[in-house]
Amino acid sequence: MADTTNLLTLETPILPVLTQRRSPRAYAAQPVPPDLLQQVFVAASSAASCYGEQPWRYLVGTRASSPEAYDKILASLGEFNQVWAEKAPVLGVSIAKLAFSHDDNPNAWARHDVGQATATMAIQATELGLQVHQMAGFAPDKLREAFGIPAGYEPVAVFTLGYPGDPASLPDSLRDKELAPRTRKPLAEFVFEGGWPEQAGERYDQATV
Ligand SMILES: Cc1cc2nc3c(=O)[nH]c(=O)nc-3n(C[C@H](O)[C@H](O)[C@H](O)COP(=O)(O)O)c2cc1C
Repeated sequence: MADTTNLLTLETPILPVLTQRRSPRAYAAQPVPPDLLQQVFVAASSAASCYGEQPWRYLVGTRASSPEAYDKILASLGEFNQVWAEKAPVLGVSIAKLAFSHDDNPNAWARHDVGQATATMAIQATELGLQVHQMAGFAPDKLREAFGIPAGYEPVAVFTLGYPGDPASLPDSLRDKELAPRTRKPLAEFVFEGGWPEQAGERYDQATV
């Protein structure tokens, strides 16, 4: 069933699944069926990549079938992420292969392509009633050590995956974040048709965080 909590409301209509995708902190205990887990990673693999390199790798830990890996990924997170991420049934790490396989030269687009794959995965997850929450708040070295990630591969982000839960289950501050209105920059701040805008009087570089 589609997640309809805190939809992104936009003046211009876009695919409904894009307005339903969000980064929840409340997760239901319900495990993710293996066939759906497979679907989200196949969706990731459908993404475009420079030279078709497919530089993405995913380490996965599920509470149900790979609890040791799950715990290692959880331990890499900052405490501010651990407090809510530990409720998710699946944790994952996106990893970039930093050199092209065909000539061993540095792949400057590896992280870009990993992000594309994870974004595609998140949309597929939403379509299946699941949600992904990506995180930068983790310690890459902890993951490198815990999993023996070799040189030439870089952890890019950690993410939760699961069915969204009841926001009421969260502590007050996180519940407020979960339900805070979701906004996006107007197009004029990031789409520059015809040329780069004049800086004076423009707000194109102001983040709205
Ligand atoms: C690369 C990346 C890193 C992020 N790091 C964190 C994080 O460490 N902790 C967290 O709670 N959210 C994190 N987020 C989630 C963002 O805060 C969230 O995507 C953003 O506020 C937009 O909300 P939405 O995904 O619900 O539309 C991260 C998202 C991305 C894409």
